[in-house]
Amino acid sequence: MQTGQAKPLLRALAGETLSTPPWWLMRQAGRYLPEYREIRARAHDFVELCLTPELAAELTLQPIRRYGMDGAILFSDILMLPYALGQKLAFHEGEGPVLERIEDPGGVARLDPGRIASALDPVFETARRVRGALDQRTTLIGFAGAPWTVATYMVEGGGSRDFRRVKSWAYRDPEGFDALIDLVSEATIDYLTGQIEAGVEVVQLFDSWAGILPEPALVRWVIEPTKRITAALKRRFANCPVIGFPRGAGVLHERYFRETGVDGIGVDTAVPLGYAHRTLQPHGTVQGNLDPVLLIVGGPALQEAVRNLRQSLGPGPYIFNLGHGVLPETPPENVQVLAGLLTEPMDA
Ligand code: CP3
Repeated sequence: MQTGQAKPLLRALAGETLSTPPWWLMRQAGRYLPEYREIRARAHDFVELCLTPELAAELTLQPIRRYGMDGAILFSDILMLPYALGQKLAFHEGEGPVLERIEDPGGVARLDPGRIASALDPVFETARRVRGALDQRTTLIGFAGAPWTVATYMVEGGGSRDFRRVKSWAYRDPEGFDALIDLVSEATIDYLTGQIEAGVEVVQLFDSWAGILPEPALVRWVIEPTKRITAALKRRFANCPVIGFPRGAGVLHERYFRETGVDGIGVDTAVPLGYAHRTLQPHGTVQGNLDPVLLIVGGPALQEAVRNLRQSLGPGPYIFNLGHGVLPETPPENVQVLAGLLTEPMDA
């Protein structure tokens, strides 16, 4: 099938099967790169880094210069949205994010969606700069956290082991919790609209914690908000594809893909390739799902896994990626090896 798109990543998202898969890596900018660590050491803090267009644009481009991925993902973080809504946010060295906790409808009432456009304008400026710097074949990817995943951080006040606070609120007071999800959904639509207007060509919704919910809750707080955001974006930007990444959704990937209207689905490492090919590719483009640890290990194990992925998913619309983000311990030279494995013809 020919789709009239020029960029490989957009061709794959339009449903084309390509002989070598377009690729990018979740968290392709980051601590595994010495040039990232160099800039990171100079910035006062991570939030400031995300809000300094000159540095954020540079960080977006670093992996592209080294490896020539087909997609450049805007350098920012999913937690910049709660930050823009007025929630205090800090990243402490080696500890992950810390947010001021939202615990009830009173906390939701204190959030201010009116601040999105101005507070996140530096992110839009980063997008404008990167888009101007990319060549004809590289696609600029924007992103946001999906509302459920963003809400877990907002309510837990950071990462969590068992998600007791956010689940307790959702199960005890589903209507009250809906108000938080609705507010985050609308803010996400505004945030992604700003990114697309600034030059982003595809957006990914990261739902890193989709997989911790039982089915009815996943339908209500993962599928429904994703469907709403996708529909709102499609009404305004009919040509901007959306990729959903409902990590851990297991057998609910198919329902998610059918019902949300996303063009592509990111699959985590645990999703079997036979299931991804037979059950998901008929609905659209599949993206994934190399185990990030194989990129640390390298060698024949990496080679074998990449070949297997290309054999299993290459016959359908496919974007190569990891099943989760690049780990900080990854040797940069293994990413170079991966780039070679992906451009090699399949019968070689
Ligand atoms: O290269 C890219 O992919 C673009 C930038 C990007 C970052 N975070 C930069 C970042 C993207 C797309 C994200 C997504 C993100 N952020 C997610 C969803 C994907 C996933 O990993 O599940 C989540 C849950 C977050 C929240 C977040 N940000 C956490 C939990 C942490 C701390 C843990 C960690 O991995 O460092 C961050 C920090 C963060 N975001 C860093 C980077 C480069 C490291 C900051 C540092 O240098 O200390």
